[in-house]
Amino acid sequence: MIKQEPFGKTPEGSAVYAYTLENDSGVRAKITNFGGIIISLWVRDKNGESRDVVCGFDDLDGYCKADGYQGALIGRVTNRISGASFHLDGTEYTLCPNFGSFSAHGGKIGFNRRVWGARAIDGAEPALILTYVSPDMEEGYPGTVVVTVTYRLLAVGGLSIHYAAYTDKKTIFNMTNHAYFNLDGYDSGSIRDQIMWIDADTMNEHDADMIPTGKILPVRGTPYDFTTPKAVGRDFDSDPEMEKQAGGYDNNYIFNGYDGQLRLRASLYSPASGIEMQVHTNQPCIGIYTANMLNPDDVPFKGGVRQARRGAVCFETQKMPDAVHHPDFTDTTLSPGECYDYTTVFQFEVKK
Ligand code: BGC
Repeated sequence: MIKQEPFGKTPEGSAVYAYTLENDSGVRAKITNFGGIIISLWVRDKNGESRDVVCGFDDLDGYCKADGYQGALIGRVTNRISGASFHLDGTEYTLCPNFGSFSAHGGKIGFNRRVWGARAIDGAEPALILTYVSPDMEEGYPGTVVVTVTYRLLAVGGLSIHYAAYTDKKTIFNMTNHAYFNLDGYDSGSIRDQIMWIDADTMNEHDADMIPTGKILPVRGTPYDFTTPKAVGRDFDSDPEMEKQAGGYDNNYIFNGYDGQLRLRASLYSPASGIEMQVHTNQPCIGIYTANMLNPDDVPFKGGVRQARRGAVCFETQKMPDAVHHPDFTDTTLSPGECYDYTTVFQFEVKK
């Protein structure tokens, strides 16, 4: 079942909509074509009660004011690009330095603030197909890029996100979704005690500005080690550098044995709600961000709930940040004739 309802008008006057996708699985998703934002994702807990496990706002105004990219599609390029510029085939491209001296999450007006075309397709696995044509040189990036993102509510209980993109000129491209998950509900405060696993023995080293240095670090035996499931917050305070630089986890983990296949790569489990989320993807990496910058004085979440620092985790499946400046990193170039084709699935199970 799909319900479509108005979700306000952008400051430029475009009407946008919210689409609620529902099936027999017990999972329900509310998504808007403004930024392709997942507004709500309801999942049944161990007592059969529905909990909304993603952070978000009641209305469009909240999303326009907030700067945390809650629930949104991120593009053209997620995470940071140092110096807000890059060279491609001998041409220098200048981007908007929207995060200090660097560019991040697509620039000043990224995909998260664009109005996407929407087509809803009902069925046992209801889907919302979003399309956006990003014009040549939008936010400084070359090439006209046609992007299609398909959100599909799975019969097994989960939300699948398929990303497809084509360009007419060589460019760089690295999309993700920036949903903040808390498996006790977005309104339940700290993420500390939820158990996380990541299929990664290594991560990118970054400097004080969170820009990759180029070095790949082993994580085993360090506070960054989630190769064995561990409470998210267990080691929050064991590395003073983590606190100083990012205020929590804000790291790009590199999956083990990457082979391009859609595979189970990370999970989060809350003993309190009994909800487990499994992250399947065919991307090579995941940015783990523990909502370190959420501020209780910022725009309140749905129902007036105050934002909580370290109150959620983002699982940003992606290629390596700032790859355009590191020839040995996972390649983020996209050329004419190629299809950018990635899938990430957030699948839910209840453990009693
Ligand atoms: C980045 C953080 C940033 C956050 C919100 C995350 O994806 O890794 O550094 O603060 O997004 O913008």
